[in-house]
Amino acid sequence: MNLTANLDGKTAVITGASSGIGAETAQALGEAGANVCLAARREDRLEEVANKIESVGGTAHVVPTDVTDEEAVQELIDETVEEFGSLDILINNAGVMLLEKVEDANTDNFRTMVEVNLMAVMNATHAALPIMQEQGDGHIVNISSVAGRKTWTGASAYNATKFGVNAFSEALREEVTGNHNIRITLIEPGYVDTELSDHIPDDNIRQYSKQEMAEMDVLTAEDISRSILFAVSQPPHVDINELLIRPTEQKL
Ligand SMILES: NC(=O)c1ccc[n+]([C@@H]2O[C@H](COP(=O)([O-])OP(=O)(O)OC[C@H]3O[C@@H](n4cnc5c(N)ncnc54)[C@H](OP(=O)(O)O)[C@@H]3O)[C@@H](O)[C@H]2O)c1
Repeated sequence: MNLTANLDGKTAVITGASSGIGAETAQALGEAGANVCLAARREDRLEEVANKIESVGGTAHVVPTDVTDEEAVQELIDETVEEFGSLDILINNAGVMLLEKVEDANTDNFRTMVEVNLMAVMNATHAALPIMQEQGDGHIVNISSVAGRKTWTGASAYNATKFGVNAFSEALREEVTGNHNIRITLIEPGYVDTELSDHIPDDNIRQYSKQEMAEMDVLTAEDISRSILFAVSQPPHVDINELLIRPTEQKL
């Protein structure tokens, strides 16, 4: 059995590719031979990821993008097709986790989470689908979370966005199945060591979250990128619908 992932000739767009899971996934896909389009707001960080991919012989293209801007998301998809001639894999990864109790919350943070974690997933999918349908195939990978399956105090709005991503992904899978060879994969990580928790606005929740992570052998972004690479390198008739990945020590 040959277990080596080969994405030669494929084109992938990865949102949130400037750090954490997105940056590692971009490198994994680039090393496996895919042409990768890297999107996020921090252009300097995207260039660093692109340089790493190119240093091992891969091909990367940077498209600075704020995924809350619907037109910019459409331009990202258009520019990918212009640059590489196709769009085979879309990884909707950009996300923010602005945890606060509802009673204490700044409602701007509700809006930001809905726009980045959910609206952008739907808009990027809407922009990519016609291209995949015309090609006759494509793969959309949505990064959700354990928080898309379980709720926690202080995570209600984040939970709402990730439950939304889960619902959107499954309904989308039902919608596209049978018409085209389009695959939908939902990735649900538990604790991963990235910058995500640095932005939690509530001091107590941020400290609690960091403490929890410090007390266990958490996942690395590379652990998640391996699962994504596994899903996108299956033969066309195999659709890995859902992967829930926790650190072995994570109970909830
Ligand atoms: N870390 C965990 O424990 C964990 C667990 C479950 C699920 N997840 C999910 O995994 C995904 C990636 O998170 P991560 O852990 O890798 O955290 P991260 O390192 O903070 O990465 C988040 C990425 O999202 C991008 N982003 C945020 N707002 C954006 C915007 N408006 N436009 C474009 N890009 C934006 C950031 O780039 P810029 O700031 O450069 O724009 C960054 O590249 C998220 O969807 C998160 O919910 C993470």
